[in-house]
Amino acid sequence: MKNYDQLIDSALAELESCETPELLDKVRVKYFGKNGEVTNILKSLSKFSQAEKKDMGKKVNLFKQTFFDNLEKKKKVIEQIQIKEKLQKEQIDISLPTREEKKFDSKIHPITHTVNEIISILGNMGLNYEEGPDIENDFYNFTALNIPENHPAREMHDTFYVKNNSEKLVLRTHTSPVQIRNLKKKKFPLRIFAPGRTYRCDSDITHTPMFHQVEGLVVDHSVTFANLKWFLEKFCKTFFDNEELKLRFRPSYFPFTEPSAEVDINCSITAGKITLGEGDKWMEILGCGMVHPNVLKMSGVDDQKLKGFAFGMGIERLSMLKYGMPDLRDFYDSNIKWLSHYGFSFLETTDLSWR
Ligand code: DAH
Repeated sequence: MKNYDQLIDSALAELESCETPELLDKVRVKYFGKNGEVTNILKSLSKFSQAEKKDMGKKVNLFKQTFFDNLEKKKKVIEQIQIKEKLQKEQIDISLPTREEKKFDSKIHPITHTVNEIISILGNMGLNYEEGPDIENDFYNFTALNIPENHPAREMHDTFYVKNNSEKLVLRTHTSPVQIRNLKKKKFPLRIFAPGRTYRCDSDITHTPMFHQVEGLVVDHSVTFANLKWFLEKFCKTFFDNEELKLRFRPSYFPFTEPSAEVDINCSITAGKITLGEGDKWMEILGCGMVHPNVLKMSGVDDQKLKGFAFGMGIERLSMLKYGMPDLRDFYDSNIKWLSHYGFSFLETTDLSWR
């Protein structure tokens, strides 16, 4: 068995000298492949006596164990070396200055920027970020919001219906269905806001088929209209960065709130230029109200014990008023000149680290 001992030594030495996983595999095939040297020894065992077979079998098994243990160890060592080499090769010098001409090449879309601002403000005011699906069922988008079938409010929404055989689906016409999804969780107090895309079959200077809204909902044991007023005043003054801003709550109608109001902010208009927070003109910016008891009931919430306020705003409108864009349709024209003028640099984006 002198030859066999030599074979073991050289196999282990060959393993040790390998520098890549491919070479390791070659050594494995050389000894343990179909025609490998050890495999061939095993094949020839039939020629030996019973005692020799037993002895040899034991030796081969022992060697096999050592060989594959060593192979695995070597594989790991090679992997580590390769990772180290890769890291060294890919090292970048972070102390290099940025290339001047590239610095402000790409811009954040004003909608993304405005949504980030809203997220930051409402988040800091204690509301939790929530999302809902763009494709809603008819129940969440209408019925649960106290808009039953054949209600005239359904017609006002210019709904896109989605072809579907089982349940009735729509592209959500507002973010209000997110209210229902959260009321149904029945965890109170509930304080949420939900920004997102909304859709209506409408297109002119003041409408695009896809637009954005943000919904707000606060439900607790003693929520009042005064809380709603304070909340929206705080939000608007922060968003428009103007402590002088005045809000006017105008009685209105929404099926899902009672009482309902539309909120205007004061402004002046001279030579077509709108200045917010001064003058005696009014600009409508949002809808709000106290959650209708039917909405609470339909979500399985006790309307005797819990009260809530809700509001909904158009994000494009807020953005246009704050940053002075004249035409809504420009938001979705993908005009690079418009984007580089109205877009925001990465350095100007709102800090969302609290999220
Ligand atoms: N969903 C309404 C719309 O799209 C906006 C709205 C008004 C939402 C009043 C509310 C609210 O939550 O209380 O026109």
